Amino acid sequence: MSTAAIIPAAGLGLRLGGEAPKALREVGGESLLVHAVRGLSAATAAGLSCFVIAVPPGTEDAVGKLLGPYAGAADLRIVAGGAERADSVRAALELVPVDGIDCVLVHDAARSFVPVAVIERVVAAVRGGAPAVVPVIPVTDTIKRVGAHGEVLETPDRSALVAVQTPQGFDPELLRKAHAGNADGATDDAMLCERLGITVQTVEGSEDAFKVTRPRDLLLAEWILAERHQ
Ligand code: CTP
Ligand code: MG
Repeated sequence: MSTAAIIPAAGLGLRLGGEAPKALREVGGESLLVHAVRGLSAATAAGLSCFVIAVPPGTEDAVGKLLGPYAGAADLRIVAGGAERADSVRAALELVPVDGIDCVLVHDAARSFVPVAVIERVVAAVRGGAPAVVPVIPVTDTIKRVGAHGEVLETPDRSALVAVQTPQGFDPELLRKAHAGNADGATDDAMLCERLGITVQTVEGSEDAFKVTRPRDLLLAEWILAERHQ
């Protein structure tokens, strides 16, 4: 049994700006997507046998060539993404082999620097019997729920709040069932499992698994790379 990794990489990166789609923007001379694939490949205990990458329509061939050298022995499949993240994940899921896979990871290309330990923790938790697993970190800001006019409605107890990252790990059959339904408003895949009444398990994430979202995040990404190469 082995693991398949879905990488949604079809977003436009509107908040980051720039010419190219976000996953193809470079940090340290290589695209965020290459960093993400290399990171997942380095997680040897995860037993990755297949990558399915959802890319901006029209870039399939170019991305396939770009990633070839980084997928190692794993099977590399490229698919055109959809309008929303969930559409891209769903398109990729259709190319995940049905036989021989006991864990499917869904990992944002934009979380390009997730440490190997986080990836391996997620896979170990799925293999240990949890059907849906998410890496999390504590929130450092006080979070408030606000109403339509900007008025504060409540301040949830921060000690019970976490920020959720990727890779998220799933029992393959559960993920297929979760994506068979309506994905409206879903910002991650675990949320679709919650809608099915499944208990999602958390494991420890990492600040390095932050999502490159805005221009200043590129500076943090460069800093992380420089630290790792010291
Ligand atoms: N994604 C995708 N298909 C979409 C939208 C997003 O595959 N239709 C992917 C992105 O490429 C990214 C991940 O989902 O790897 C997380 O999305 P986000 O950080 O929001 O990226 P973008 O949608 O590209 O950025 P923005 O929202 O700023 O436009
Ligand atoms: Mg987006």
